[in-house]
Amino acid sequence: MAEKILIFDTTLRDGEQSPGVALTAMDKVEIAQQLERLGVDIIEAGFPLTSQGDLEAVAAVARKVRRPVIAALAHAHPKAVDAARDALKEAERKRIHVFLSSSDIHMMHQLRKDKDEVLEMARSMVARAKQYCEDVEFSPMDATRSDREYVYTMLQQCIEAGATTVNIPDTVGVMIPSGMRLLVAEVFKHIKIPIDVHCHNDFGLAVPNSLASVEAGGREVQVAVNGLGERAGNANLEETVMSLISLYGVKTNIKTEYLVETSRLVERTTGIRMPPNFPIVGENAFSHESGIHTQGIISDSRTFEPGFMTPEMVGHRRRLVGGKHAGSHGIGAMLNEMGFTVNKTQLNEITARQKALGDKGKEVTDADIRAIAEAILGELSKEEKIFDLEEYQVTTGNKITPSASVRIKFEGIEMTAEDTGVGPVDAALNAVRKSVSGIEDIRLKEFRLEAITGGSDALADVIVKLEDSKGITSSARAAREDIVLASVEAMVSGINKILLMRKNENNRKS
Ligand code: KIV
Ligand code: ZN
Repeated sequence: MAEKILIFDTTLRDGEQSPGVALTAMDKVEIAQQLERLGVDIIEAGFPLTSQGDLEAVAAVARKVRRPVIAALAHAHPKAVDAARDALKEAERKRIHVFLSSSDIHMMHQLRKDKDEVLEMARSMVARAKQYCEDVEFSPMDATRSDREYVYTMLQQCIEAGATTVNIPDTVGVMIPSGMRLLVAEVFKHIKIPIDVHCHNDFGLAVPNSLASVEAGGREVQVAVNGLGERAGNANLEETVMSLISLYGVKTNIKTEYLVETSRLVERTTGIRMPPNFPIVGENAFSHESGIHTQGIISDSRTFEPGFMTPEMVGHRRRLVGGKHAGSHGIGAMLNEMGFTVNKTQLNEITARQKALGDKGKEVTDADIRAIAEAILGELSKEEKIFDLEEYQVTTGNKITPSASVRIKFEGIEMTAEDTGVGPVDAALNAVRKSVSGIEDIRLKEFRLEAITGGSDALADVIVKLEDSKGITSSARAAREDIVLASVEAMVSGINKILLMRKNENNRKS
């Protein structure tokens, strides 16, 4: 295995971009500067013959990005090679990457040329590139579906013509890792210059195939940030690099702490979002929900993470998340981080409430947990509650007046009340007020309702301010998915606070 693997990035390659993605020259320069910061060795900035715009974009990258080698792609045609030369004029370090198909199916249906003609095209275009640039790479396109002897001959002739690196492209992603290992090992016997690979992901094997080539002696790997590329894309840079470093113990020049930031930039510029469960850079790559997992993670993160690849190493962050699988250990740690101090009963109640949210199929966010915690911490203890809601019902519709009935327990005695309102919340709150009207006249001074997260199933956070006939005020809060329930609970909690204050005052006086 080579001492150090060089990373050749094809994220900016036009002519082989993810369908629908068109990067401007400005996008390309921004991404290339980030790739330079990341430590990529070779940046293929584009395919200058495809358009004047791409030629200028490659030229702009070549002017602005000085440390990595800037490569330009060219198929084996004089105009393509000359366009690559023109685009790279101002590059500090440059490479022309010439490619030509070597498989029978491509020669017959795409090139419509025989084997000898194709050999000559490859050889002569590498020789032409060599006149412009010392560093020339040659790729026999569709090499993995080509006649092996023919590929060796082609590579040999291109090396004689001046190629300094040869590439083995798995153009339609049909290799399996053991096959790739054998193929690269075999090429290695014939070829004495650095071998590069370019693997496509049609069967999801682009990264394993790239790693297999390194096992067999490959010196460079072509990768793309977020796995961009034609069809299912190419080997993604993040998985390839982290596997090389953390699993194979191989050195690269990549500063891995920039991986997440690079991935996010490419997401923004291309508009292609990574799924949350994507390895290394996905939002959930280091998130833990299950109670069993969070308990382990809190004690030692290596229990449910690889350990030799930490979130810090790749510029990510570890997250404990709520949800139906979350246990009190994880929720406790999250609350701690948010600055809450809770007792065991409160913790259990917060855990149960957020589990109930998750059970309804809702994603439980940090904001949901915060709202639930604030509501529960603001609640009176069981002993302090003078007045308890047993049941409420609302009836509403566009042809009827909304009405509500409540059943409450006041110091152990059950009481009921009914009332109407302009809507179900108003009706329910009127019924609650009515239920205690024999004891105290409570006024609703303020009512605030917020949806914690978007969506019709969002947690409703209700804050009320109440006042009694003597001017004693209280504030209370409740958070539930049901707006009416949250409103009623907040009102009940506020009334209890007023009643408690009055009870304490009476006790002091007597
Ligand atoms: O997939 C492929 O064969 C290519 C070549 C240009 C290397 O992208
Ligand atoms: Zn390709």
